[in-house]
Amino acid sequence: MKDKKSLIIYFSRADENYSVGYVDKGNTEIVAEYVKEFTNGDLFKVEPLIPYSKDYMTCIEEAKERVGDAPIKEKIKDISNYEVIYIMTPIYWGTYAPEIETAIKDLDFNGKTIRIITTHEGSGLGRVPEDIKKICFGAYVLDDALAIRGSLAKESKPIVEQWI
Ligand SMILES: Cc1cc2nc3c(=O)[nH]c(=O)nc-3n(C[C@H](O)[C@H](O)[C@H](O)COP(=O)(O)O)c2cc1C
Repeated sequence: MKDKKSLIIYFSRADENYSVGYVDKGNTEIVAEYVKEFTNGDLFKVEPLIPYSKDYMTCIEEAKERVGDAPIKEKIKDISNYEVIYIMTPIYWGTYAPEIETAIKDLDFNGKTIRIITTHEGSGLGRVPEDIKKICFGAYVLDDALAIRGSLAKESKPIVEQWI
């Protein structure tokens, strides 16, 4: 996959999180930077229009309320130049962060290859592969999705390299 023109779409939140405390950079972002390094892909960070609370417990509740209605700062305009799209998300309530759905649901995935990476604290891939297949019509969603424990994101570089 190293030679394919790649776009890395990811969501990640800094501040307080489960098992890592307060951090300047989210777990998924750490892993997304590794994916960039090994694919030379372009990074697109999905950002919520209204930032989540810094406090973890408040954020948990906010995320539940945003399911199905999660506005983002900037939409991805065009993915026609890319062959492989990496979709990377923390697990929120068993699936992708709701902003990921907003970012990808209207894109034209016809003929594109999708590879999935989640970061999580126990749920693994959760429902992400099924949920992505439901909204990315015409894409080949590879079955080799990778789940990385968020608190081990920094150490995941060799795993990411091998997976790519
Ligand atoms: C709102 C919210 C919901 C979460 N829900 C789950 C969950 O259902 N299962 C799980 O394993 N981890 C869950 N987590 C933990 C995150 O998936 C994990 O910490 C992840 O690595 C965070 O990535 P980030 O730092 O890139 O945002 C949740 C975290 C948050 C903030």
